[in-house]
Amino acid sequence: MVKIAPSILSADFARLGEEVARVECADWLHVDVMDGMFVSNISIGVPVVKSLRRVTDKFLDVHLMIEKPVRYIDAFADAGADLLSVHLEADLPPGIHAALEAMERRGVKKGIVLRPITAAEAVLPYIKDVDLILVMTVEPGFGGQKFMADQLPKLAAIRAYIEKYNPACRLEVDGGVDPVTAPQVIAAGADVLVAGSAVYGAADPAAAIRTLRGE
Ligand code: DX5
Ligand code: ZN
Repeated sequence: MVKIAPSILSADFARLGEEVARVECADWLHVDVMDGMFVSNISIGVPVVKSLRRVTDKFLDVHLMIEKPVRYIDAFADAGADLLSVHLEADLPPGIHAALEAMERRGVKKGIVLRPITAAEAVLPYIKDVDLILVMTVEPGFGGQKFMADQLPKLAAIRAYIEKYNPACRLEVDGGVDPVTAPQVIAAGADVLVAGSAVYGAADPAAAIRTLRGE
């Protein structure tokens, strides 16, 4: 079953509790953390995750778009994140391994993320140790961008690696997922779909979630 993770980046931050309630039928909540360095934008951080944790039991899928993320694993674990994903481009390999080890110690699910420029093979040193691989289908930093269809072969290649090396690993897609592109990423092997504008930009977010799921 495909999971839908609405991205609260497209929500109204002044009414975040209500915005979370509007997507009650979703499977996960996707939280985009940006530091103004790894990506040019600055979004939200640890205190917002902590506040979200108080108002929802939903699985909090926290996407860290920050340099050297190992520095913040404990803080986001303390705040109540269920899964943390770190960009492979955000540190040298020892730093990425250290971040994953910190997640393991804290009992948080472990994810790695690939920018569009990063090749499928980059997951191979980590694939046996992670719970989720996230493939970006836009340049990270902003919601509402156009889906990059050239990432579909990469998704399919990573799906094949997952079947071979770690079948329990989830394959998530983030960026430009809407009712047209959702069936394409599902066909390529994705099983968790992040959607910001397609959910929060819809008149009825719950109906949008069901459409993305293919219901
Ligand atoms: C972009 C973020 C996404 C963003 C997706 O850097 O990682 O999660 O919210 O927004 P949409 O679904 O509008 O492309
Ligand atoms: Zn994201």
